[in-house]
Amino acid sequence: QKKVTTHVLSEMKHNKEKIAMLTAYDYSLAKIVDQAGIDVILVGDSASNVMAGWETTLPITLDQMIYHGASVVRAVNRALVVVDLPFGTYQGNSKEALTSAIKIMKETAADSVKLEGGAEVVESVKRIISAGIPVMGHLGLTPQSIHKFGTYTVRAKQEEEAKKLIEDAHLLQEAGCFGIVLEKIPAKLAEQVAKELTIPIIGIGAGSGVDGQVLVLHDMLGINQEFSPRFLRRYHNLFAEITGAVSGYIEDVKSVDFPSDREQY
Ligand code: KIV
Ligand code: NA
Repeated sequence: QKKVTTHVLSEMKHNKEKIAMLTAYDYSLAKIVDQAGIDVILVGDSASNVMAGWETTLPITLDQMIYHGASVVRAVNRALVVVDLPFGTYQGNSKEALTSAIKIMKETAADSVKLEGGAEVVESVKRIISAGIPVMGHLGLTPQSIHKFGTYTVRAKQEEEAKKLIEDAHLLQEAGCFGIVLEKIPAKLAEQVAKELTIPIIGIGAGSGVDGQVLVLHDMLGINQEFSPRFLRRYHNLFAEITGAVSGYIEDVKSVDFPSDREQY
């Protein structure tokens, strides 16, 4: 069971083997996901929504991301672990970005970091990579800019935004990113980017013409019922499973079915 490195991901693209990536934010689920054979685990700042219940990804702090990142890293043997740089910890300038990335690497022992944006962050990307830290890019619907977009709808449908996205993708590759996440953009555009670039392109709501897919673990497990964009395939209905288990427990406690004679000392 060989450890997945950025080099392995590059070979996978070369060999046309699709890359499977999921988020995780804690030790217990990261252990299951890693042992199931996932290639990449993203400690996403979607933890802000999924773990903490915030409306957006903006509130989560660097120390909170580090808590999640370190928890995941302690569970993982095989997958490559990517930790998101949260909002406000890299946009100021490239020195701030490097300081934040170094803090994540030192305090989580993760393999790499991810940040959102193209031309605006390319100096920061270069500086982080110069320090020996692998960086993944993220273009298209970048949730840290939700207040600029105003909506979580599909990005880059218009020619101007599509053109900038392609330019940004090239800039990130030239800066040395080992991969890029493309979120919620037309499949045709994502496929074009994946064809033009030599680094792996991982899609979420970006069609099948890319080099791999990523989903939020809790979404694909069906833990929440509210969030159902078109791109989300639910592999389980954990909401129903957990509701059933909890209801059964409540019933057993109330009826003194639990604990039984064999379940006590
Ligand atoms: O934070 C996250 O979960 C992400 C993925 C949706 C790519 O950035
Ligand atoms: Na994210």
